[in-house]
Amino acid sequence: MQAKTVFSMKEIINHLKEFGFVFQGSEIYGGLANTWDYGHLGVILKHKIKLLWWNHFIKNNQFNIALDSSILLNSKVWQASGHLDNFNDPLVDCKNCKFRFRADTLIQHYFPDLDCDGWSNEKLDQFIVEKKIKCLNCQHSDFTKVKQFRLMFETYQGSVENQGNKLYLRPETAQGIFINFNNIKKFYNKKLPFGIGQIGKSFRNEITPGNFIFRTYEFEQMELEFFYSPTDSINWFNYWLKSMQDFIKKLGISEHNCQLHQHDKDKLSHYSLATTDILYKFPFGWKELSGIANRGNYDLMQHAKASKANFLAQDSTTNKLVNPLVIEPSIGVERLFFAIICDSLIQEKVKDKSRTVLKLNSFLAPYHVAIASLNKKKLGSKAQAVFELLQPTLLDVIFDQKSEIGKVYNYHDQIGTLYCVTVDYQTLEDEAVTVRNRDDMGQVRVKITELKKYLYQKLNISC
Ligand code: GAP
Repeated sequence: MQAKTVFSMKEIINHLKEFGFVFQGSEIYGGLANTWDYGHLGVILKHKIKLLWWNHFIKNNQFNIALDSSILLNSKVWQASGHLDNFNDPLVDCKNCKFRFRADTLIQHYFPDLDCDGWSNEKLDQFIVEKKIKCLNCQHSDFTKVKQFRLMFETYQGSVENQGNKLYLRPETAQGIFINFNNIKKFYNKKLPFGIGQIGKSFRNEITPGNFIFRTYEFEQMELEFFYSPTDSINWFNYWLKSMQDFIKKLGISEHNCQLHQHDKDKLSHYSLATTDILYKFPFGWKELSGIANRGNYDLMQHAKASKANFLAQDSTTNKLVNPLVIEPSIGVERLFFAIICDSLIQEKVKDKSRTVLKLNSFLAPYHVAIASLNKKKLGSKAQAVFELLQPTLLDVIFDQKSEIGKVYNYHDQIGTLYCVTVDYQTLEDEAVTVRNRDDMGQVRVKITELKKYLYQKLNISC
């Protein structure tokens, strides 16, 4: 069997659309750019990704507990956190065709090796003029001056729009955690170190969204804010970097397709003392999949100053009250979804024929097993009985009578189902079924009474 592991961006997008994982947002109205809806299989995959994050970062970690905070927060939160002043990107408009670009990304289109992240507006202006940078749409070289564009979506609370009731959709889930620090500490009797994790939607009015679901206006984040004492001897940054790497590996993403990128000091976000990104080799290049940031005591101190609350917490080793420091491992659900698909969608040659297979690991496969039969009329009720036997178990099972067996196998290979169980004519005599394995296409005969035990063993599920 020869494996082709790399699909083009277009092939991957087509596959996800064809099998109903992802749809264009607002499609019947001509679509809404860079918005995507998720069909049943996409919902299952997202759900499983979030469940695995929950197990890894919350359920199976002794330090951490969860929170679900509001998307809309008092605007003072964003003033204190520095987002109102600093959460901007440099933007230019083409004076001829009115297309809008992120200035640094536009420059990097022509000078891919140049790192102009963090350049001042003046430096970007000067470079664009000196190098006669052209508009990617109309090829003219006539741009407005670079201006900073706030990435937060604005809205208004109540029926009257004025500055007094202006709100922002959160651009990160993290601030909801910081402002609830004292609630969690008090009601859960927490001493340092401890972490608060949250999964939820965030919104950014990105200047250059795109690359399918990689960068969108609306996305889900899975974030942990881990609070610890300044006198702790453990290197918590390394601990959480390793933990995030382990999590990504657990999802089946190949280590060869990941690498670390440490941010230069002058390129850090306004809240960060140090950040390391885990990059993934997407079809359009190495890009950020996850970020691990050392936020120091920046956020809690900013909120202490602005709200007059204090955020002292007890160090569980020394029992002293201290101002906690924070490490933040953060990752986006959709970006991870995309990386998982890029990593598991492969094409294989089997005896001169090629097949496409989505080799999701057993934690992420939409179904552990699909139940089918060779003849819907004559064997359908027997297949239904096998389905009903397995459905109440810990297995994710689907009953699939839609088409003939070759097509059933082909469909389930392409959506990632691990096993197909087929009821055939012999089943009526020997009470056994054929179990086909997705990955090697091997087939074995298993007694119906032994089927649950067989699949549990294969999938490492204990009763
Ligand atoms: N609280 C820290 C924070 O928000 P970030 O690096 O801006 O840091 C964290 O975002 C993660 O959220 C990223 O690593 C990425 O996985 C995801 N993410 C950020 N912006 C995104 C966007 N526009 N579309 C999809 N995912 C995004």
